[in-house]
Amino acid sequence: MIKMNPDDITKVACVGGGTIGFSWAVLFARHGLRVNIYDIAEPVLSEAHGELRAAFETLVEAGLLTAEEAAAARDRVRTSADLAEALQDVDFVQESGPERYRIKREIYREMDALARPDVVLASSTSAMLMTEIQSATAHPERCVVAHPYNPPHIVPLVEIVPGEATSDETVALARDFMARLGRVPVVARKECRGHIVNHMQAALYREALWLVGNGVATAAEIDLAFRTGPGLRLALMGPFQVGMLTSPGGLRDTLVNRKLDHSLEDDIPSRVEREAPARSPELARRWAEACAAEMEAELAEADMAAVRKWRDAKLLKLLEVINAD
Ligand SMILES: NC(=O)c1ccc[n+]([C@@H]2O[C@H](COP(=O)([O-])OP(=O)(O)OC[C@H]3O[C@@H](n4cnc5c(N)ncnc54)[C@H](O)[C@@H]3O)[C@@H](O)[C@H]2O)c1
Repeated sequence: MIKMNPDDITKVACVGGGTIGFSWAVLFARHGLRVNIYDIAEPVLSEAHGELRAAFETLVEAGLLTAEEAAAARDRVRTSADLAEALQDVDFVQESGPERYRIKREIYREMDALARPDVVLASSTSAMLMTEIQSATAHPERCVVAHPYNPPHIVPLVEIVPGEATSDETVALARDFMARLGRVPVVARKECRGHIVNHMQAALYREALWLVGNGVATAAEIDLAFRTGPGLRLALMGPFQVGMLTSPGGLRDTLVNRKLDHSLEDDIPSRVEREAPARSPELARRWAEACAAEMEAELAEADMAAVRKWRDAKLLKLLEVINAD
């Protein structure tokens, strides 16, 4: 039974310390919580403190923390290769292990046996169903999806998604705890693969692959067009709000009357659409392989740690602009 208040949470475990688990640890530590990072891979644990230094440096450079506050936050983080030790006395668990049902279920079975029964077990899963994961536990009511957007210590969104056996108290606690950390929790009303944003992102990738696969644009050209066009507006408002400003008749013009793109009586498909091969999983895989190879070649010389630092600094500046009024 979850009776805890979000303000009672003082110690958190990050189970899985990869890209997302590590970033969660930065967020929790920054907000004064003690953090245990657990991972099965030793290098993840031994490199964590070096990476913490780099992540906190970016926050200090952005003026969000003093060097002393950053050092104190880093000191609140411990690493452990022992799950029982990592879960000892924690008040909240954020799981960020691999995106595979077999592995998530095994991790949840172990966490459920080790964590106090009043501790929420939240999962970062990008697309999976909590109903399928929580079935491995004796206390499914305390399991919930808390899906962040990368990197969670900077990007505010956290989607909260209950499984069929998740209690309302668990949803409320996860939501309120995320709000306490300065996140923007959005609670999904029903469970769905990909939750909200990744469900939509799947459609975006599906069409981007189709365009590349059928020779309309390269992957880099799509990135350029998206970044300099829709990306700018989408940084400020959601797609439906964008639609309200696109035409005098608002979203009705854009979506119902389809005035701006293809009007119903004048809907002429291009040659590439007429001649394109039928969509199939096999073709989509081949196109995905081609896009991945193109981007890998483009970024072959890049220092990805430096690119990540650049991204994080820019995101912080963008948030400053967005939150200014
Ligand atoms: N990368 C993203 O953009 C992103 C965004 C939001 C959510 N997520 C989700 O977060 C989760 C983690 O993704 P990631 O990108 O950090 O992956 P990752 O591969 O960087 O990290 C996964 C970590 O889990 C560890 N691990 C493997 N088996 C384990 C076990 N049994 N117990 C504990 N740790 C184990 C691995 O050693 C690795 O460090 C996934 O569910 C993913 O869908 C990812």
